[in-house]
Amino acid sequence: MKKLLIIVAGLLLPSIGWSAGGGHTYPDDKIQIDWDDKAAMQRGARTFVNYCLSCHAASYSRFNRVGRDLGISDEMVRDNLIFTTDVNGDKTKVGALMKTTMTPAYAEQAFGIVPPDLSLIARSRGINWVYNYLRGFYVDESRVGLGVNNGVFANVGMPHVLAELQGLQRPLYKTMIDDDGNEQEIIVGFELLRAGSMSKSEYDGTIHDLVAFLDYLAEPYKQTRKNVGTGVIIFLFVFLILAYLLKKEYWKDVH
Ligand code: HEC
Repeated sequence: MKKLLIIVAGLLLPSIGWSAGGGHTYPDDKIQIDWDDKAAMQRGARTFVNYCLSCHAASYSRFNRVGRDLGISDEMVRDNLIFTTDVNGDKTKVGALMKTTMTPAYAEQAFGIVPPDLSLIARSRGINWVYNYLRGFYVDESRVGLGVNNGVFANVGMPHVLAELQGLQRPLYKTMIDDDGNEQEIIVGFELLRAGSMSKSEYDGTIHDLVAFLDYLAEPYKQTRKNVGTGVIIFLFVFLILAYLLKKEYWKDVH
């Protein structure tokens, strides 16, 4: 028993230490994704192809597969989700992978870093992190060229590509004393400097839907997996009853 406790403690400790050392980030909100809300994912897909695919690829997915999973016909996919052309200058085919047209060399030159593929971002960073990141851009004049920083990802190399929707915000600080007794300025809120085309709740909703889409993208099989899981449990339950009846039948004559 003692040995077991030590093993459990050993497994838990690193995770506690890690979260304590995580540092302060803002915003720090949590969201729920409804896996049956295909409409939200469709809206997210639209935002994604309009605002993200120019720099980031999602190269594990094909346009038509996304369409099929989210209930969008091939024609709708062609008209609403595909804005890129292939090497011959023809419109990208619905069966093509969701690649970006930007070459890594160009990205390197423009941003100093190649924007990562976003196929798995909802899993690697987590949905809450991505939700907060996309709502965490704030004006920072000291960042030459970009003019923005991020409360979740300090000194990020990504421009605030959704500024026209969200508007521009500046951080509100509070002074805190950290564990070592040093004063530290932490962000505790945002104040709108210039309004965007959306209200705060509209913008939050748009980001929620975008993250719902990214969550689907990271695990297209989640839905089927969940359904299979339920089926297996029901099967096992029915089987349990059958096995019990069978046992009774077999042992009936023995007693
Ligand atoms: C103009 C190009 C550009 C556009 C458009 C763009 N990004 Fe980025 N993005 C970047 C760059 C560059 C980075 C890398 C930043 C770094 O590591 O400093 C990045 C980083 C990220 C990261 C963090 C990745 C990680 O874990 O390191 C996420 C998440 C992200 N982008 C999501 C998005 C989403 C969602 C959109 C669409 C709303 C979008 N980006 C649009 C250039 C872009």
